[in-house]
Amino acid sequence: MRFLRNRFSGLKPYHSAYLTEGTILNSNESPYGAPQELMNYMKENVGQLLVNRYPDTDSTKLIEAISKAYDVKCENVSCGVGSDELIDCILASVLDEDDKVLIPHPSFSMYSEFTLLNSGLGIKVPLKEDFTYDVEAMKAVVEKEQPKVVFICNPNNPTGCVMAQEDIEAILKLSNGLVIVDEAYEDFASESISVIPLIHQYDNLIVLRTFSKAYALAGARVGYAIAGKELIDLIDAVKPPYNLNLFSQMVATWAIEHKEVFRANAKKIISQRAYVVESLKSLGFKTYSSEANFIWVELPDGYFEALRERKIYIRQMAVENKNYYRITIGSPEENEILLTALKELSV
Ligand SMILES: Cc1ncc(COP(=O)(O)O)c(C=O)c1O
Repeated sequence: MRFLRNRFSGLKPYHSAYLTEGTILNSNESPYGAPQELMNYMKENVGQLLVNRYPDTDSTKLIEAISKAYDVKCENVSCGVGSDELIDCILASVLDEDDKVLIPHPSFSMYSEFTLLNSGLGIKVPLKEDFTYDVEAMKAVVEKEQPKVVFICNPNNPTGCVMAQEDIEAILKLSNGLVIVDEAYEDFASESISVIPLIHQYDNLIVLRTFSKAYALAGARVGYAIAGKELIDLIDAVKPPYNLNLFSQMVATWAIEHKEVFRANAKKIISQRAYVVESLKSLGFKTYSSEANFIWVELPDGYFEALRERKIYIRQMAVENKNYYRITIGSPEENEILLTALKELSV
């Protein structure tokens, strides 16, 4: 591309098919639509939104609701257009040219993408063969390279593995840079693994969360960061003004004030995850342990295409030239459609 900066050569536009029909198990979204109470609330309130005015640039009501939900101060919270925007803002505010960023591999693709866009140098640390975190290798890189930023995706997208709190703390202690713990899927862990309470203890910790997964609001694009005030100020310094639109602020505020509604759905997904894993195992497929709303699976060649022909969409990802598959846990009906198709393909 003619005008592209040299260091961006190889950068491609991000495309993702906009799927609205079929069995959609490729993007880790919630299979449950917005709850009826939220639909009613939207209908009653949408008419009062002052669309001729800019929204509250500080997302005050939403931040108050989030700080109440997690028992932190408002000064410890910043909201973004999805946690994607916050990842970008954090890197934009701290990276100088060629600063190092530790990124586990495989992990969420936007860590590398935003590192590149913000002129940093990603250092990939592979997961172990069983797709769990290689904590010792990560610690060694932190000690040797002292990256400006360390990403820990917990649970990890796309593999579902988790890092124990004591290991996260060991990395926080070793690191002179920032440690970002991305908890996009934390609501699906069998028991709470959130490190939000540690923000008071570690001034280099930023926790990221999103409304796109357990809160079924991927379309509203809202994420938030929880950290010490100094780090929140750093994010807010580079964040575009009026980033969160009126509608998104409204629905996300309702959602966090009604956490219990979404908790019930997350519990259903956790129990469906166990069922899908057991069913896949009994069909002879290799699966990896997951604490997220998706599972990491090995499938024979051709299955991905055969599922797609049946309008069943999962995600194919290559690691070291070998294909693996990430399957989102859907509603019980969707999971049955997937399992029936896999059963038919295996005979
Ligand atoms: C680990 C992880 N972090 C962040 C995000 C981005 O979420 P958001 O929709 O809040 O931008 C995703 C989305 O898939 C993700 O998997």
